[in-house]
Amino acid sequence: MVDLHDIRYLRIGTPDLQSAVEFATKIVGLQLAGRESKAAYFRSDKTSVRGDTRDHTLVYVEGDPSDHVIGFDLKNREDFDKAGAEIEKAGHPVRYGSKDECELRRVQQFLAFEDPTGNKVEIVVRPFHSGERYFPARDAGITHFSHIGLRTSNASRDEAFWTRLLNARVSDWIGDAPLLRISTIHHTLALFPSPHPGVQHINHQVEDFDDVMRSYYFLREKGVRIVFGPGRHPSSSACFLYFEGPDKMVYEYSVGVKHILPEEESSYRPRQFPFAPESFCMWGSRPDIPEFRADQKDKKPPLKTVA
Ligand SMILES: [Fe+2]
Repeated sequence: MVDLHDIRYLRIGTPDLQSAVEFATKIVGLQLAGRESKAAYFRSDKTSVRGDTRDHTLVYVEGDPSDHVIGFDLKNREDFDKAGAEIEKAGHPVRYGSKDECELRRVQQFLAFEDPTGNKVEIVVRPFHSGERYFPARDAGITHFSHIGLRTSNASRDEAFWTRLLNARVSDWIGDAPLLRISTIHHTLALFPSPHPGVQHINHQVEDFDDVMRSYYFLREKGVRIVFGPGRHPSSSACFLYFEGPDKMVYEYSVGVKHILPEEESSYRPRQFPFAPESFCMWGSRPDIPEFRADQKDKKPPLKTVA
């Protein structure tokens, strides 16, 4: 089994790099950490909360907006070659990054492969940390980049991939979608059925619930499309707000996510939530996100509405 430690970065293509930079800094509230001709790097880690400051956690790269890459680091860097061999043996061709590619990712080494859906995944060794304090362009209260929604063409097959070949554990299911943890955080990735691969949403944690509500009013004033919330997830207990970014990428702010501590690992039992709006929000907010809605996902009858 390949022991992942944490999610490190996302690399996302965009046909309009300047607009993506404007959105990431002035709307989401990330810090522009570096700008090269065809890529922009963003930071999000507040040292006092995470204990480490990833050099960057998001990169927008000029190119195809459906091109998404997710980077993870390993628990033990000595396992790098073994990890590559295990993934290859499981039938997923592994490619090792060149020196130039490592430089672009600010890592010492990386290997790349695809999950069964075709999501592009990278495992990195000795990713760079930043010695500078995180200083965002907008005070959205972000403390760190925390998790992603990932698209799957077959949730149970991909759940097996992420939990058997890799070390993810199921924290809960909503319908077929498993919410998977890698660390103590309730989920670092969630697999949502979708006709195509890619990242489905990008989560940043904020300091407190006031930040969620401040952003709710801020985003409304700026004309940003809010697609879900404010609300609270019954699975992870997190309070959330989802909104639409460049190329229709969904961003999320949340606070208060549940942790499953090492001493709880052996006794924790994942819960099955029905695929229903109440399973996504216990306050009654209704998602305008296709992957969270039965009626838009596979043309089932419309959602039950409250009279
Ligand atoms: Fe989320």
